[in-house]
Amino acid sequence: MATAAAAAASYLSSASAILLYAAVFFAGTHAEQTVVVTSDEVPSTLPVCKTVGGGSTFFDVQFCLEALGSDDRSANAGTNYGAYSVIAADLLTANATSTATKIDGLLRERAGKDDEATTTRCLRSCRALYGGVVRRQPGCAAAVRGRRGGEATRCLETAASAARECEEGFGKSKVASPVTMENDDAFKLAKLAVALLSWAH
Ligand SMILES: *[C@@H]1O[C@H](CO)[C@@H](O)[C@H](O)[C@H]1NC(C)=O
Repeated sequence: MATAAAAAASYLSSASAILLYAAVFFAGTHAEQTVVVTSDEVPSTLPVCKTVGGGSTFFDVQFCLEALGSDDRSANAGTNYGAYSVIAADLLTANATSTATKIDGLLRERAGKDDEATTTRCLRSCRALYGGVVRRQPGCAAAVRGRRGGEATRCLETAASAARECEEGFGKSKVASPVTMENDDAFKLAKLAVALLSWAH
């Protein structure tokens, strides 16, 4: 009896956790609507994101839901961790590419100004770091697709380190980073891809 009651309580609490996360997810994407969440509306990414985000110190469930939810392929990925890992790796490619382009723009704006030489120096270092990520990303994504776990994890971790190194460069030089959000996204996407890949079998 007690065991059955405990099992029922635990089932109920995990069911309400699912509904809570779903409410947050839909509130974020359809802020203007009053959303009644039913179990039919729970995104297929939810159990996957709870698994990888719940145990991660690098990103949370919400980040995972938003990232994977931004790609149409997620609608058909079910609980295929390998497919989600490919999606996260592709999102990282897009992110790193657009960050490199943004840094190019920032450097162009600064050309000829030497009043902010420290920021310029940090941006050049970031540009080199992201250049490396962009160059390696096709091979890295191919390793993720091919489920070559060791190689894929190494190159994704290298991308995460590049993003962190870029951000730390500004901190060490005591100047504001104009790419904090981009570094944060790239770091988390790389860690997300690693976590998803580790669950793919
Ligand atoms: C980068 O990744 C974040 C998190 O997934 C996303 O919100 C953002 O739109 C992405 N940006 C680009 C340019 O891909």
